[in-house]
Amino acid sequence: MQTQRCDIGLIGLGTMGRSLVLNLTDHNYSVAGFDRDAAQGILLRKEATDRNVMVSASLGEFVNSLKPPRVIILLVPAGKTVDEVINELIPVLTENDLLMDWGNSHFTDTNIRTNQLAKSAIHFMGVGISGGEYGARYGPSIMPGGPKIVYERVASVLEAISAKVKGEPCVKWLGSGSAGHYVKMVHNGIEYGLMQLISESYHLLKVIAGFSNEELQRVFSKWNTGLLESFLIKITADLFSQKDELTDRSLIDLILDRAQQKGTGGWTSEDAINLQVPIPVVDAAVSMRNLSVLKEERELAQMKLKGPAVKIRPEDKELLIILEQGLYFSMICTYAQGFALLRSASKKYKYDLNLSSIASIWRGGCIIRSSLLEEVRSAFSLQRDLPNLLMDQVVSERIMRSQKGVRSVIGLAVENGIPVPALMSSLAYYDSYRSGWLPANLIQAQRDNFGAHTYERTDRKGVFHTQWNQS
Ligand code: 6PG
Repeated sequence: MQTQRCDIGLIGLGTMGRSLVLNLTDHNYSVAGFDRDAAQGILLRKEATDRNVMVSASLGEFVNSLKPPRVIILLVPAGKTVDEVINELIPVLTENDLLMDWGNSHFTDTNIRTNQLAKSAIHFMGVGISGGEYGARYGPSIMPGGPKIVYERVASVLEAISAKVKGEPCVKWLGSGSAGHYVKMVHNGIEYGLMQLISESYHLLKVIAGFSNEELQRVFSKWNTGLLESFLIKITADLFSQKDELTDRSLIDLILDRAQQKGTGGWTSEDAINLQVPIPVVDAAVSMRNLSVLKEERELAQMKLKGPAVKIRPEDKELLIILEQGLYFSMICTYAQGFALLRSASKKYKYDLNLSSIASIWRGGCIIRSSLLEEVRSAFSLQRDLPNLLMDQVVSERIMRSQKGVRSVIGLAVENGIPVPALMSSLAYYDSYRSGWLPANLIQAQRDNFGAHTYERTDRKGVFHTQWNQS
């Protein structure tokens, strides 16, 4: 333990918090740590022997152990704990101290806290961080929001500890207020979408092709060397080779098919609905997590509700090709939807987001990192105001080329009664987005018929209402 004051303080010494402390000390920052649960402090002391780390026994001691003006990172569970810690800190902090919430806070809570702290002379930033425990330890993607001038005070620290891609740090100031937490929320929405798409591919390969876990491991590993190269495809390959310690069977086969969630995917869908931005892949992913939880109901329904018999096609080489294309197509659609939401939110909430910078800091460290993000970055850097990723020249060519795969794979799934809602939502999004005409005129006519809600016309300006014929 050292007696000099520390550069940075971190409250919340869970797995992520402790990993971040170690990451910070790797870059020669001295760190003071505090957790209400003394056991976490003890763990950190053990993990950080010989490092410039001071674990405090009380919040007062923690605050006094920091160099003024203080820089404090909060990594506590999102929700009321964040407010409790902030309220305890306000009376003991002084002018110009900086408090950063690095948890998965809802962006509206970050807005409230920003306003609350604006009344004091303490600075506040909402910062998204992605990459799980490994990322926190060796380099996460960091999404900071808040006053730019305040960010500049900590920019060098964040750059030092973040992941790097081609030498570029995966952190950039994103915008004021809750911009950082908003971007992190959308990151998680995309994460939900990609995970669901991968799970649907697994379902098809397991049931239609009858692939073993070894074969699945090989397929996903190979995919990770091509178009689909990404963190989620890579870890999926690894998951299939994991043996269970208790039974020596494949662990994946022993995991209950009931997916949990902390809610960030649902928050993304909710806000997209509020902003009237279509993100059907994320919505489908959230719904499928909810459907998966109805395990007992599903088991009963399986006995009653019959579908087509599955035609197993073990030798089907074509299946792997169309599925790879279909997944690629759908991954593009998922990113397109996430970025379309960011674009709208940026205007609505006045974040003034730079979508190219966001794609750039998502290329490394975070859960949704993939080689595709390089193209996303370049698309938005060529055209800052691109209305939709699908309209970029390179991306549009890629998606058009891979649509054959997604159409075939969905046909196969439908024929065999295998649910692929995220793949289907991707294709429906693409087909709807590229339709200059949609049957929404009929919806308008129905609304006007039963509720006199009025409609616009194709041949003249204005708002119209008709006394519709009743039969
Ligand atoms: C990340 C992840 C992380 C998220 C978990 C669990 O970027 O490191 O998004 O922030 O909390 O993956 O999320 P769910 O419990 O909602 O699946």
